[in-house]
Parts: sequence; structure tokens; C-alpha cells
Amino acid sequence: MSRVALVTGGAGFIGSHTCKRLAEQGIVPVVYDNLSTGHRANVKWGPLVEGAIEDKERLAAAIRTHSPECLIHFAASAYVGESVEDPGKYYTNNVAGSIALLEACRATGLGRIVFSSSCATYGIPPQLPITEDMVQLPINPYGRTKLMIELMLGDYARAYGIRSVALRYFNAAGADPEGQLTEKHDPETHLIPRALMAAAGRIDRLDVFGDDYATPDGTCIRDYIHVTDLADAHVAAVNYLRDGGEVLHANLGSGHGTSVRQVLSAIDRVTGRPVPVQMLPRRPGDPPVLYADTNWARQRLGFRPQLSDIDTIIATAAPSFGLEVRS
Ligand code: UFG
Repeated sequence: MSRVALVTGGAGFIGSHTCKRLAEQGIVPVVYDNLSTGHRANVKWGPLVEGAIEDKERLAAAIRTHSPECLIHFAASAYVGESVEDPGKYYTNNVAGSIALLEACRATGLGRIVFSSSCATYGIPPQLPITEDMVQLPINPYGRTKLMIELMLGDYARAYGIRSVALRYFNAAGADPEGQLTEKHDPETHLIPRALMAAAGRIDRLDVFGDDYATPDGTCIRDYIHVTDLADAHVAAVNYLRDGGEVLHANLGSGHGTSVRQVLSAIDRVTGRPVPVQMLPRRPGDPPVLYADTNWARQRLGFRPQLSDIDTIIATAAPSFGLEVRS
């Protein structure tokens, strides 16, 4: 019998890259998505079930029809700024949506979940690199929704035996090295795509939010992780649960930090196109430095990022914006 995973949000950026890697490892991805931010064209490796995350009956029916061994739960709203302005949307889509999903799992006896969590659950970390046992004090509603879902997953494991892996992503970036998928967000707010849009002349310039941080070059430092490396970690998590693994929380990052200026230099180096910039004040809610300790994911999931050096991330993302890569 073939292996199947039900992938909520599988038409989105990280979800679609994960579907590709699942299919390449012999696991059929059944996408469950309402296409509100995902794209139908991203669903290439298995069937699409159109449905809302809060529709428990439809989710349960999809589980009964396709008999997945595991549910991979990406479907969520994921803009930090919007979550501050419209928290109701985030508590509804993310928290209430996840309750519906957990209840659908209970109703159908599906006992394995891989969940998209975030480094946003840590808030401003007390020290670096960030380890999984550090206190989680998120500083915005988005991060709080992700933390609440992690806590719910723990309770559902204890009470109902639903085992889960919560993967705390750092900054997902890059795109499928074979060019079958691209990064498409609307609106686009993330640094690397916006900087590439500026380098390609699709927007006038990149706004850099703050160059007066206490970092070596004054700009914020983040841990950029290639989306295909993230995708591989999801396949590893599905296998970990199949093999009887217990509830796990794991950071997924490259393990090192890159500043905004270093990202801009990499774009210039890789594409030969300088990024026109305008310096602006700090963006509210931006932690100055975030990067992951990834030892836990290495040990428990065999996580070994292959594509997450900044030049490779830029080289795989650049073609989506019509930019050539220097050989
Ligand atoms: N930045 C700019 N200009 C831009 C966009 C971003 O200077 O136009 C800067 C930001 O200030 C930040 C860095 O580039 O210092 C990275 O910003 P992103 O918006 O690309 O990513 P964030 O680190 O803000 O957000 C990411 C994920 C979120 C997650 C968050 C946790 O996208 O889902 O990390 O802090 F919640």
C-alpha cells in the first residue's frame, strides 16, 4: 500500500516544496487548501482537496477518503505585522483552525501530526543560539498562536495519544533548485524576495528597517534556511513518527546568522545586480538577532541542511524574479 500524507496548506510556499520532497520519497501528498494564499499551480504531486481548515467535517472526510499515515499542518496566516493589526484573524485561522484539525484527527483516529511552528514563539531570546528548552515568550499575536498550538498538541498527546513534531522554522527562503516552484507571496514582505525585486527593477528600492542595531554592521541578523532543507525535515519528521517517535519540538535553521547587509552583498555577488536601498527607522517588533541551535534536529531527525548557505539561497530564488545567476 502506498504511503500518503495529508498536507494542509500544501499549495503554499513551504507546503508545496514539502509535497515535492514527499513525492520524491514515495509518499503521496494529498493537499488540503482553501487557496486563499496558496496557488493551484503549486499542487503538482498529488490530489487537491479544496476546503477550509476550520471545516472539521470536510477534513475528517478527506482523512477517511485518503487514509493518510500522517497530517502535515501548514495552513495558517503568517504575517507578523498583520497579526498585530488583526489578531482575530490569527486566533481564528490558526488556533480555532488547529482545534478543528485536532478534532478531525480524534474523530478519525489519525494519530500523527507534523506542525509548522516558528522561531516567533521565542520572542526576544535571553541568549544565542536559541535552543528548544529556552523560555517561549512571543512578542506578537502570530507567535502566540503558534505557541498555543504547540501547547494544545502536548495536551492532545497526553490525553488522546496523538503524537506530533512541532518544527520551529527560522527564516524560510530560497526556492526549488529545479525551478518547479517559486516563492510567491501577496503581499510580499520578506527581505530576500523584496531585495531581489529591487535588484530586478520590479520595485524602486528596498527599504532597510534600521541600521543602528548593536550588531557588527548595524542591521538585523536572521537565520535563513532553504525551503528545500525545510521540506526534507518534514519528510524526516513523518518517518520519525512512523517509527514510533514521541512528541518532539525542533528548531530548523542553518545554525548561523546573516545580517541584512550581508544578504544584500550576496545578491550583488550572485546576480551582479546591486540592490538599491533606502535606510528607514527600525520596524516595530523586530528582534535584533535570531539564530538557531540545530543540534536537536540533527540528533533526532538527522537534519543536515544542504542548500542553506546564503549564496545558494539567493541563486535558487533569483530566477523567480527574472535575474540571472553568475556562473
Ligand atoms: N527587512 C528589511 N526590509 C524589508 C523586509 C525585511 O529591512 O523590506 C528586514 C527586517 O527588518 C528583518 C529582516 O529583514 O530584520 C528579515 O525580515 P523578514 O520580514 O524577511 O523576516 P522576519 O525575520 O521578520 O520574519 C520571519 C518569518 C516570520 C516569523 C519571524 C520570527 O517570516 O514568519 O521570522 O521573528 F514569525
